[in-house]
Amino acid sequence: MPTAAELRAFFQTTYGTTPEQGVRAPGRVNLIGEHTDYNDGFCLPMAIEREVKVLLRRRPDQTVRVASMEQAGVVTFALSAAIPKATDKAQHWADYVKGCAQVLIEAGVPLVGCDLALTGDVPLGSGLSSSAALEVAAIHALLAAAGQTKTGAEIAVLGQRAENRYVGTNCGILDQLSSACGVLGQAMLMDCRTLALTPAPLPAGVSVVIADTGKRRGLVDSAYNERRAGCEAGAKALGVSHLRDVTLHGLWTAHQEGRLAPLARQRCEHVVAENGRTQAAFAALRAGDAVAFGALMDQSHADLRDKFEVTCPELDTMVAIARSLPGCLGSRMTGAGFGGCTVSLVRDEAVAAFVPALTAAYQARFPLPVAVYVTRAAAGAGAL
Ligand code: GLA
Repeated sequence: MPTAAELRAFFQTTYGTTPEQGVRAPGRVNLIGEHTDYNDGFCLPMAIEREVKVLLRRRPDQTVRVASMEQAGVVTFALSAAIPKATDKAQHWADYVKGCAQVLIEAGVPLVGCDLALTGDVPLGSGLSSSAALEVAAIHALLAAAGQTKTGAEIAVLGQRAENRYVGTNCGILDQLSSACGVLGQAMLMDCRTLALTPAPLPAGVSVVIADTGKRRGLVDSAYNERRAGCEAGAKALGVSHLRDVTLHGLWTAHQEGRLAPLARQRCEHVVAENGRTQAAFAALRAGDAVAFGALMDQSHADLRDKFEVTCPELDTMVAIARSLPGCLGSRMTGAGFGGCTVSLVRDEAVAAFVPALTAAYQARFPLPVAVYVTRAAAGAGAL
């Protein structure tokens, strides 16, 4: 990750002037509660020590220029109610920034032009919410330039809207709300219906270890949207607005009455059980019970693999190896699935041996570039 001084130097070389302000927004790891957010359910994420940083300077006009230390070129656009998307593939990353500007304008925020320089170390497309970190950072930057403020939840909703409507991915609120509202040193029970967050510390003596399988999420958007549509169809068949309002008993009854096709029942079962597991995991955190928490992570992965079917051999292998290693209390895929990262809960004293053992055993099966991150819970987005 480039240093603050390097980002500042990049700003100066790109724009020939100095920045006035800086903002940051972290990525996230979801500890449990997967594919529940768009069902109005519960998640248990934390922000991570990887983030997007933006330096900015206001301009006297309605032009936005944005440059990234990790991407070539400066992307320029005018603030308007219909900002055109990139036609050049190399500039697609800037669509996240454009989408944020457009939703802010639609929400009636009087934006002003600005020059933005950004950098980040959230790995792209690996399930750690690099897009949400960019959206939340971009909204903070655009608001800061305009001298405006919004709450973390408002920023998260705007970021999600930019992704849903402008970029075109039908994601839930998990990623943006984690990035916008993360709490230093704490995981958070997220109620995706009310957007209420209840912090809880991780138990003493355990570390959160993220392992990137190196498998990038091919075709993820279509498969993700298909799972989401399946849940919505399931809710409709069950006569509720969201699966949040369904119990396992209700699912069983609907099955008996022939109201749910076998595949729909299987998908719904994961969501309903995962909501229960997430609340149980929160209770385990509150009780300082890392062993119970780890067991729930294992169960979550099993359902994501067998019922929701969003894992892949790489994720299943990484999880199986992690669990076989000393000191690992639980392991599961994190994020949308189909590739990307796993998250494991590992006893502190075992972490030093866990990391190389996991990497070596995984690479013996899959010769892919593996990255392992041990992370604490970071603070949510804000000023640099
Ligand atoms: C992606 C989406 C989130 C959430 C997860 C699965 O990260 O962006 O909204 O649905 O997948 O839990």
